[in-house]
Amino acid sequence: MPHSVAPFPATRFRRLRQSPALRGLQRENAVRAEDLIWPVFVQDGLDIETPIASMPGVSRLTIDLLVRRAADAHALGVNAICLFPYVDQSLKTEDCADAWSPDNLSNRAIRALKAELPDIAIMTDVALDPYNINGHDGFVVNGEILNDETVEALVKMALAQADAGADIIGPSDMMDGRIGAIRSALEAAGHHKTCIMSYAAKYSSAFYGPFRDAVGAAGALKGDKNTYQMDPANSDEALRLVARDLSEGADMVMVKPGMPYLDICRRVKDRFGAPTFAYQVSGEYAMLRGAADNGWLDHDKVMMESLLAFKRAGCDGILTYFAPAAAKLLQSRG
Ligand code: PBG
Repeated sequence: MPHSVAPFPATRFRRLRQSPALRGLQRENAVRAEDLIWPVFVQDGLDIETPIASMPGVSRLTIDLLVRRAADAHALGVNAICLFPYVDQSLKTEDCADAWSPDNLSNRAIRALKAELPDIAIMTDVALDPYNINGHDGFVVNGEILNDETVEALVKMALAQADAGADIIGPSDMMDGRIGAIRSALEAAGHHKTCIMSYAAKYSSAFYGPFRDAVGAAGALKGDKNTYQMDPANSDEALRLVARDLSEGADMVMVKPGMPYLDICRRVKDRFGAPTFAYQVSGEYAMLRGAADNGWLDHDKVMMESLLAFKRAGCDGILTYFAPAAAKLLQSRG
C-alpha cells in the first residue's frame, strides 16, 4: 500500500464511487475510436460478402464492398484498417510470387482504399502464409522454414505494399532480421514516411484458429509454427524481441494475441515506452462473440471491458474485429 493511504475511516474508497460524476473524475483509462485498428479480410470478385463461420459478424469482402464498409467505419471514427487477403488457391505456390506482385489482391485493395478514403491509415500484413501452398509464413525446404531467404521475399513484399500506398507495414512473420532489412529497403527506395508496426512478440497460439479459416490457410498449414513464433511460456524473450525490433527501425511494436498476454503488454510498455499495440485475435473475438450470441455474456459490455483491459495494460492501441461496433457504441455515448 502506498503511504498516502490513511487508515479507515479517513480513507473510504467508496466515497469516489458513489456517483457517475465522481467515478468519472477518478477514471484512469478510456478507449477511444482512434485507438482502434480494424482488421479486414478482402477477396477477389465484385459485390460478394462471404461470412466466416468461426467469426460471427465478420465477412470476407470484395474490394468494392470493403471500400464502402471502410467509409462507414471511418464515419464512426475508425481511422485505421489492416488488410488481410484471401488468396485464391490457384495463386498459392511454393515460391509465393504473388506476395510481391504489384497488382495482387492486397495491393489493389490498398490503391482502391487510398483513392477513395485517403484519410484512413492502411496497415498491411507481411508474411508469406496467404500465398504459400503449405500455409507457412516463410519458404519451406525439406520441412525447414528458411529465415534469410524468406526475409528477402518479405522485403520485396513490403516494397510493393509501400509502392501501392500503404501507411503502416505490418511484418507478422517472426523471421529474424526482417525489420532492419525492410527499413533499409524502404529508405533506399525513398519511402521515408512509411511506418513499420512490428509483430514483435507474436506467440505460437491456438487462438489464431478462426483467422486461418478466414484467409483459407487452415487446410493448407502443415505442422505448426513453433520454430518461428514464440513459446507461450516465455516473457523475458518478448522484451529482447521488442528491443531488437526497435533497434532495427520499428516505429511501433505489437504483442499478439492480446488478452492472454496482457502481462507482456505491460512489461513492454514499462520497459520501452514505445508506441505499443495488442492484437485481440480471431479466437478472442470468437470466444466473446460466441458467448454473447448464446446470451451468456453481454456483448457490448464484454467488448468494451476487453478493450479497456488493453489500455489499462499500457497499450496505445488495439487491433480488434470489434472496431466498428465499439466505435458505434462510443459515438452513441457521445
Ligand atoms: C499470419 C497471421 C496470423 C494472424 C495474423 N497474421 C495467423 C498465424 O500466424 O497463423 C492471426 C490473426 C488472428 O488470429 O486474428 N501471418
